[in-house]
Amino acid sequence: MSDDASKAMSLEECTVEKRVDVSASGEAPEGSPTLSKRQRKKLLKHQKWEEERDLRKQKRKERKQQRRLDRPSDETGEGTTNSRKRLRRDVAASSLRLVVDCSFDELMLLKDVRKLHRQIQRCYAENRRAPHPVQFYLTSLGGQLKQNMDDHDKGWVNWKDITIKTEHYMEVVGKEELVYLTSDSPNVLAKLDPAKAYVIGGLVDHNHHKGITFERAKELGIDHAQLPLSSFVKMNSRKVLAVNHVFEIILAYLEKGNWRDAFFTVLPPRKGAVAVGEGDQAAQDSDSDSSEHQAPDSTTDTTAPPEGNYVEASHTAKEEETQP
Ligand SMILES: C[S@@+](CC[C@H](N)C(=O)[O-])C[C@H]1O[C@@H](n2cnc3c(N)ncnc32)[C@H](O)[C@@H]1O
Repeated sequence: MSDDASKAMSLEECTVEKRVDVSASGEAPEGSPTLSKRQRKKLLKHQKWEEERDLRKQKRKERKQQRRLDRPSDETGEGTTNSRKRLRRDVAASSLRLVVDCSFDELMLLKDVRKLHRQIQRCYAENRRAPHPVQFYLTSLGGQLKQNMDDHDKGWVNWKDITIKTEHYMEVVGKEELVYLTSDSPNVLAKLDPAKAYVIGGLVDHNHHKGITFERAKELGIDHAQLPLSSFVKMNSRKVLAVNHVFEIILAYLEKGNWRDAFFTVLPPRKGAVAVGEGDQAAQDSDSDSSEHQAPDSTTDTTAPPEGNYVEASHTAKEEETQP
């Protein structure tokens, strides 16, 4: 019970008892009211409670301090800070923009829209706790996806460090700064350019719309590239990744500074990802399941050749310029 509440209660009890006392005697007391033994006891107790207020405050402080000291140490060994606080304090945001293009809403069934929603939630959470968060954009938000967000996660309107637009990404970012990430591109990303805006197709399609993002990028005349998966990873599954995996790989690359570590940090072990040059078993196995189903586990199919055109993101060549 709070101090104020207890004070209010004991005073109220005194008042009630006093009223009983007065009406029982049949006449109002002259001068100060006489208190019953019980009332005096309560009053004394209340006075003691008031006197000890500072002492209690001090004790609470000490207990809090002790709890802080007892908390397990975080990865930095700093001991007295929890990891979320540590990460937010050590954050060095990247200028790189990562756009999730939600313009494919009408191509998806509601169950896949829900999966996309979960993948976006995952992207948001990972970006918030990343040591080098990207400038996160959601564009063309509307239709079923927005409805699902409104229905199941009203808190999205308060999301921080994200730019959410109903407009298409072409209206939000300059054409020259855009690079569409798509596994069907013959261009292979060599490194990331912090001045660029990389676009991820907001689509869960179980490969029913194979090549759609590549075709869109070509139609719009914007740069495109695939992640350099084949150069670093042999997988026993298909190589079209889910939105959150692509997003997380970019975050991991910004943190670790190389693709190999980024891929192996993010790709689910059950996909049998092994480093190129570390045995062929995974590449020979086949696995047709699509991990678009779940945010944390999301690979699908690709036909992109390992020997694609390697391009620097800063000058990602258009397909017609880089085709052999
Ligand atoms: C589930 S995939 C959608 C596949 C869709 N059929 C398409 O044509 O893009 C979700 C998005 O992740 C990105 N993505 C997936 N795998 C990729 C890869 N290997 N390289 C680059 N981007 C990839 C693409 O932006 C893609 O649109």
